[in-house]
Amino acid sequence: MADPRPFIAVIILLFILFSPDPQSPANHPSIYSRLEEAIAEESHALSNLESSHFGDFNPLDNRWLNISGYRKEQDYAWVALDKVKERAREQVKHAIGEDYIKRIDGDNGGSTLPFYQNVSGVLHGSWVRSPLSSAIEVPRLNMSAFAPEGPFGPITFPTFGRNLTGTEGKMSLHVSERDGERNVVSGSNNDGREVDLIRSITVEMTVQDDESFGDGWEVKLHGVHFLETGGLLLATTTEKFRGIFGLPHLAMSEYQFGITQKLLNKTLTGVINKQSTGYAPVLNPWSPGTDNSPENQFSTPNCELVVYMQEQPMHIGVTANVDAPSTLLRFMEQELRFPTGASLPPAPELQFSLTAFSPDCGFAFESKGPPDFVPQEGQHINGPKIEVQHIRGRRHILFFGSVLALQLWLLTRQLREASTPSTRSRVSFYTISMLALGDGFTTMSFCLVSLFVDGLWVPLIGAAFLSFMSVSFFGMRFLMDIWAVQQPEREQAERQRRAAASSSSNADNAARSQETQDSANGAPPTVTNQAEVHGTAPTADTLPLPVTARRPVDTGATPIIIPSDQDEPVGDEPTTTVTDAGTGTNQRAPGFGAMYTRFYILLLVTLFLSLNATTWPHSLRRGYFTLLAFLYLSFWTPQIYRNAWRNCRHALRWDFVAGQSVLRLMPFAYFYGFRTNVLFAEVDLIDLAILAAWVWIQAILLVSQEILGPRWFARGDWFPPAYDYHPVLRQDEEGGNMPIGFSQATSPSSPTLSAKPGESRDNGKWMFDCAICMQELEVPVVGAKTGADAGLGGGLLARRQYMTAVPHL
Ligand SMILES: *[C@@H]1O[C@H](CO)[C@@H](O)[C@H](O)[C@H]1NC(C)=O
Ligand SMILES: *[C@@H]1O[C@H](CO)[C@@H](O)[C@H](O)[C@H]1NC(C)=O
Ligand SMILES: *[C@@H]1O[C@H](CO)[C@@H](O)[C@H](O)[C@H]1NC(C)=O
Ligand SMILES: *[C@@H]1O[C@H](CO)[C@@H](O)[C@H](O)[C@H]1NC(C)=O
Ligand SMILES: *[C@@H]1O[C@H](CO)[C@@H](O)[C@H](O)[C@H]1NC(C)=O
Repeated sequence: MADPRPFIAVIILLFILFSPDPQSPANHPSIYSRLEEAIAEESHALSNLESSHFGDFNPLDNRWLNISGYRKEQDYAWVALDKVKERAREQVKHAIGEDYIKRIDGDNGGSTLPFYQNVSGVLHGSWVRSPLSSAIEVPRLNMSAFAPEGPFGPITFPTFGRNLTGTEGKMSLHVSERDGERNVVSGSNNDGREVDLIRSITVEMTVQDDESFGDGWEVKLHGVHFLETGGLLLATTTEKFRGIFGLPHLAMSEYQFGITQKLLNKTLTGVINKQSTGYAPVLNPWSPGTDNSPENQFSTPNCELVVYMQEQPMHIGVTANVDAPSTLLRFMEQELRFPTGASLPPAPELQFSLTAFSPDCGFAFESKGPPDFVPQEGQHINGPKIEVQHIRGRRHILFFGSVLALQLWLLTRQLREASTPSTRSRVSFYTISMLALGDGFTTMSFCLVSLFVDGLWVPLIGAAFLSFMSVSFFGMRFLMDIWAVQQPEREQAERQRRAAASSSSNADNAARSQETQDSANGAPPTVTNQAEVHGTAPTADTLPLPVTARRPVDTGATPIIIPSDQDEPVGDEPTTTVTDAGTGTNQRAPGFGAMYTRFYILLLVTLFLSLNATTWPHSLRRGYFTLLAFLYLSFWTPQIYRNAWRNCRHALRWDFVAGQSVLRLMPFAYFYGFRTNVLFAEVDLIDLAILAAWVWIQAILLVSQEILGPRWFARGDWFPPAYDYHPVLRQDEEGGNMPIGFSQATSPSSPTLSAKPGESRDNGKWMFDCAICMQELEVPVVGAKTGADAGLGGGLLARRQYMTAVPHL
């Protein structure tokens, strides 16, 4: 590696990634004593839970528990608890109907309700501030009592985290329900059958507030799932609120209290045992912090939450008997989890209503949906079961994999086409590197995602491998070829750059600028000037170049000039030679090794920036990704520029251009235009239309360069002058434009012109002798009178049929 700096940067990155976690107790012996304290407190809370009875916690009646968060002295807004329970009960009633509300109280007579037994899934919906809010008195907390202990004394903070200030927004929930004997309590129902009654459950909730800046907050809630009624009861657990230890007291009925107590007695004992035996030495196993927002004793306190959720019964059209829907649903669940290939209707989505209440911050919110809102405004929170989501993800990755395979196929075809140096020299290095960067980015992100999504490892790695092939074998190979072919050109550019940087009082520079002025003015350079400039080219003095061809190096795309470029760097300009001699350096342009490093550093930086961007506020994040998409989808622009700069066309196959334009847009169409995309990204058809339009504008520009000439949109002085192989042959009075290619053909009376004047005058075509193919050619020539508009009209296409190679005097 030429430059050690990128290497050092990578080492530092690796060090940061793999350095030990400072929070892990192994590095802090003091945490062990804290752990013992925590275990003692938890055991105390657990014994309190075991010995308590229904109704022991009734703030209205001034009855309190001796568990942190449930104490009177803490002044939380528990007085509103009954109203919250009442609200949650209303939601249950709306979901399962008046007839079944007795289920909450343990009367499980009659048919079983069609509820999923395993509600693991991904849910999305909107929330609104609950009408209860007005009834809740916001507790006046002594903030300094909660200040976390920093290295320089208590840290002051203005407000708790997760304090809801807006009135509505979006939320998403990730529900996971583990199986295992330890997590479930079963009992007999009224037919004497043993059924599961309650199971422990974990929900990760993200709440976005429309009115406040930022991306909302995330919280992890632990609680229980009442399997008979489809209810969920969840709470946060921290030092100031040991929610899970008082959970039974938040249940809606004595029956639910009983089974919750039974389950928690079992699960909490297990967790505390694990903690004390050192099997899982964490301070708070029920921490509300998620991977994205970890919580510890140093972070500012957050608002606590108690959440009631109610599953909506599934409506599947089976009426054979009352139990049929729930039997079918059971069967569906079984089939989803352990597929046997049975043909079943598609599994209905999970749907929940939700009421959340914060005892310490005194706010309440609920999901938006009936009966308070019409269904068009909100359908509470719903989403697919996790298995369905995985099937969906697998299908979408498969689709994306075939897009990648098609891209690879197009690239290999293009590689085969660009097998000669002359075709390679036309291809823009930057266009191909942008495409390769995109593939590299896909590889990296698929590998990263595969680490976090368990069910989709194989398809993700498969797709990542395809794009890895695309970038590392074919893309890099192509880039290397292009780089090698274009090396002399870059070296010359480098010399010119240094020449321009050198003193402007240089006499040669003055001469050069004079010459530039001459060509800008349109005056043909004198023969002596030409001979001087192109002294080393053997044909230079015999072939005075046309006005526009001061530097033959830039023209390219011809078998006559290109090979001489490749053999040796053209150092024929007096200014450059002098400068090189003057500075005594002969530095070459950066080699491919440096380019390679730069490529991967850019890829890594983009990846890390994007990873970071996933935690940015919503609008900023969206802006960042749209900008990134826009930059990426500008991949044809360097090719358009190169075509114009070298005045050549048709660098890439048309199927490559069209195919890549469609295929590279596919992922964006998916995320911006497809509602059930795996990331649940919001549909934004306007952004998608802008991106698609941008790609196709570029593609159309490429096509137009083929038809109208590579520089049709540019002013004359934008690009260095270049030789035009398809000049419009003009018959003006002096015949000044005619000589290009066939100077003898300036007038019909010329001895070497074998035109038949009678015919040629009719259709504006002249006969020429082609010296190479030794044939007579009929070439359209613009008459003196028709002027410029003819050149832009039909003549444009006609002149693509001939090519004038070497200008002739
Ligand atoms: C809690 O579990 C213990 C055994 O682990 C049992 O002795 C006790 O009776 C249980 N308490 C309740 C309230 O179920
Ligand atoms: C509450 O529990 C603590 C231990 O956590 C104990 O010191 C205190 O005496 C208890 N208070 C009452 C009123 O039981
Ligand atoms: C708030 O708490 C701090 C520290 O716990 C205490 O010093 C202060 O007196 C309290 N303020 C009030 C108004 O209770
Ligand atoms: C939460 O925000 C409200 C303002 O919306 C404020 O009055 C209240 O004190 C905050 N609560 C906490 C605990 O920071
Ligand atoms: C629920 O389904 C998920 C995904 O298939 C599975 O991992 C989990 O163990 C299931 N839980 C229960 C209680 O069956």
